[in-house]
Amino acid sequence: MNVLTINNLKKNFEGRPILKGVSLSIREGETVAILGPSGSGKSTLIRCAGLLERMDEGSMICLDKKVAWMENGQCVYAGPKELKQVRSNMGFVFQSFNLFPHFSALKNVTDAQIHVKKRTAKEAEERARALLKKMDLSHRADAYPYQLSGGEQQRLSIARALAMDPKVLFFDEPTSALDPLLTGSVLQVIRTLAEEGMTMAVVTHEINFARSVADRIVFILNGVVEEEGPASILDNPSSPALKEFLSGITK
Ligand SMILES: Nc1ncnc2c1ncn2[C@@H]1O[C@H](COP(=O)(O)OP(=O)(O)OP(=O)(O)O)[C@@H](O)[C@H]1O
Ligand SMILES: [Mg+2]
Repeated sequence: MNVLTINNLKKNFEGRPILKGVSLSIREGETVAILGPSGSGKSTLIRCAGLLERMDEGSMICLDKKVAWMENGQCVYAGPKELKQVRSNMGFVFQSFNLFPHFSALKNVTDAQIHVKKRTAKEAEERARALLKKMDLSHRADAYPYQLSGGEQQRLSIARALAMDPKVLFFDEPTSALDPLLTGSVLQVIRTLAEEGMTMAVVTHEINFARSVADRIVFILNGVVEEEGPASILDNPSSPALKEFLSGITK
């Protein structure tokens, strides 16, 4: 089953075409890595998929629910109630962590559970402590984000996303703000989630990570999917553009 299906997504910014008819599907339990040069439209794609940005044209189905579709040449979205429901199945992890600076690590993970999921404080804390443990952050539960390393902050933001029980997790360059030493622990966490069968779309520049973790690679160039396939396309790219992109990165 597809958790998410997007067809023919078009998006302009200031009259400039950024996405020019992109289709993306994510099957249940699949990890899709989205690669491409800077400015190719990766963040725009994942933000449209995560309902943080509206498509200009295209259709989207999430978990069998029609989210957006074309009608008389216009892209129409489902109503706010339906969108809220769909959004509740999606988690987002950003390059810049986006933690609440004035909340402790623990409170960063409990807050939305109580206010959005309507869990009791006790239930929320139990879940948060289990997730902090999983992210190897038990000893940092009372720390504030500024007291955490970049890697710890990113693991905390993953814990916060997971606390909402998303059916699909989107990552936009989760390690780009981290130095190489801190990158490893975050990639390891994502690798474990992949092994546990979490459904994920990950925008990343970490080619080795994509090769070893992703079930499928989607290579975006200038707003179109230039090449797509299993991780093996990274060793045998068929398009000259992917070949060039890879040689640029490994140099
Ligand atoms: N809100 C916006 N308003 C205007 N232009 C935008 C907006 N968001 C993105 N763009 C433009 O759209 C293009 C694609 O941007 P996007 O952020 O999707 O690229 P990207 O592939 O994620 O790049 P990077 O690897 O640098 O993060 C860029 O030219 C960018 O300047
Ligand atoms: Mg980006």
